[in-house]
Amino acid sequence: MSHQGRGNDGHIALLLLSAVGMTISLPAMVLALVLIPLARSRRLAMFVLAVGGLGVTLLLWSRITGQMEAALAAVRRAGGFWEDPGRALEAAWPHVRAWWTMALGLAPTVACGAELLRPRSVEELRERDERRAERLRNRRERRARRAAGIGRPERRPAGFELGRHVEGDRLLPTSRGRVAMPLARLEKTVLVIGAPGSGKTETVLRLAHGVATSSDWPVFVIDAKGDRNTQQRFGRLMQQARRRPCLFPDRPYDGWRGSPREIAGRLVQLIDWADEGGGAYYRDLSVNLVRAACAAPQGPPRSSCELLARLDKTALLDLWAGHDRAQAIAGFKPEHVDACRQRYAAFFDATEGQLDGDWALEDTDAGYLLLNELLYGEETSKLGRFLVEEFKQYLAARNRQGRQVLLIIDEFSAIADGERVARMIEVVRSHGAAVVLAPQAYEGMGGEQASARILNAAHTVLLHAMPDPEPIVKAAGTRLVVEQSLQHQAGVSTDLGSSRQQHQLKADPNDVRRLREGMCYVLGSGRAQKVQVASVSNWPAAHDAGPRDRPGTDPSDLRPEDPIRL
Ligand SMILES: Nc1ncnc2c1ncn2[C@@H]1O[C@H](COP(=O)(O)OP(=O)(O)O)[C@@H](O)[C@H]1O
Ligand SMILES: [Mg+2]
Repeated sequence: MSHQGRGNDGHIALLLLSAVGMTISLPAMVLALVLIPLARSRRLAMFVLAVGGLGVTLLLWSRITGQMEAALAAVRRAGGFWEDPGRALEAAWPHVRAWWTMALGLAPTVACGAELLRPRSVEELRERDERRAERLRNRRERRARRAAGIGRPERRPAGFELGRHVEGDRLLPTSRGRVAMPLARLEKTVLVIGAPGSGKTETVLRLAHGVATSSDWPVFVIDAKGDRNTQQRFGRLMQQARRRPCLFPDRPYDGWRGSPREIAGRLVQLIDWADEGGGAYYRDLSVNLVRAACAAPQGPPRSSCELLARLDKTALLDLWAGHDRAQAIAGFKPEHVDACRQRYAAFFDATEGQLDGDWALEDTDAGYLLLNELLYGEETSKLGRFLVEEFKQYLAARNRQGRQVLLIIDEFSAIADGERVARMIEVVRSHGAAVVLAPQAYEGMGGEQASARILNAAHTVLLHAMPDPEPIVKAAGTRLVVEQSLQHQAGVSTDLGSSRQQHQLKADPNDVRRLREGMCYVLGSGRAQKVQVASVSNWPAAHDAGPRDRPGTDPSDLRPEDPIRL
């Protein structure tokens, strides 16, 4: 880097400026020293002050020079400076004091000048070059977009406040330290990942509350490991946002909506026999049985009791009497039919009629489905798969107005395998659902392949503290930093140094390991921003008004969001 010449020029100019400044006004120089840090952090405000101060000084300039001449005359009257410096200074002091005071307005100008001419460190010069390059790139991109007839990105994206900016790139719209989550970003998949206790659930509650207050999207949470406390908090937050939350299992769910094919599609999710060998044979047999029970000419079963009653060879033969399918049913061995019914009986026994309720996703604008392992034991993952399938079907066939929907799956690794979730994300996105997934660890997303697929599908990652963040932080990319080294001889510094540019991960893995609860890195589009998520429990009452009164962060504060991808 060849910035040395400019550095020396800066030193000389700074010395000259100081000498002139001290003559014109010593107090202004002292004040300027205090103002220099502000000239760095509050550039615009200080620039305005500098212009104002300079203007005032220019207005007073004739009086200032008048006082200077009066001081010289007073010194001459006192017999000259060198004859008796004490008397001369005493005679001149009232005039000096008057012009120093009148020239105080120069202080902000001197502070700005000092900041402008200050020799820059190698790192600062690199950052400045980077900013210039980015401005140039943005200008070229804007020109190309305009030439291609693509409109400007929306200047006021709808969104809500997520938390406070700590450091790093301004990936999310940030204004006066407040970081907003634009709804447009949530429309693409978001991953909230971190170790237990790192703040994932608080963050997803924040997202749920933000969406509920700033949009009319229905908000659904499937929680595989949560507790009733979290569920109750969700209920209260939704009520504050003027929603009517339905909380499962307190309020049983109607798992029997939709066409016979859809009901059968959900019920086969409950079968987890092996896909190969003899297991595959029994699996196919069960699928056939369930389909026969659902597609019967009398219509599909509309309760678990009805299904279990149909999973019986005689009952199926009765249902299909006079149809070709009866022949195939006659070929089933009674013990196989019985085995299949036992599995479904075990599942519906564990769920205790909670799937024979009176509400479904299309009936409400907020729902929380708690599938605690304590409640359902080993049937938890089956119930999770059933509900994930239900959500897919609701979007595809029962979300009549085609409304945008938010689905949050907290601790999803406890209920669904990665492949299934990766497939679900791809399907539901095409139906306009925003999905937020909150797993505990990268591997917890269902193996290397599924994890990579989910990470690729995620537009934004909210990375909380976790022990092994490397595979995720790599996605945010690197930045160039200047590494400096100091030479030494026999352990004594020679005062000579060198510097070189190095690539460094934008989100430092060691820093991720140390993050406090609620603090996270927001990663996306090769950028990383450290954010303190604002807990919903600290949400001031003033913010609790409904969506029409207070749409989260004032979007006019926000910078336009670039269309960015991880
Ligand atoms: N944004 C936040 N602000 C303040 N405290 C938080 C925040 N996020 C988490 N916490 C604290 O950390 C605890 C654990 O957070 P939680 O969201 O339950 O973690 P996880 O879901 O990752 O296990 C919470 O009970 C709360 O005390
Ligand atoms: Mg949690």
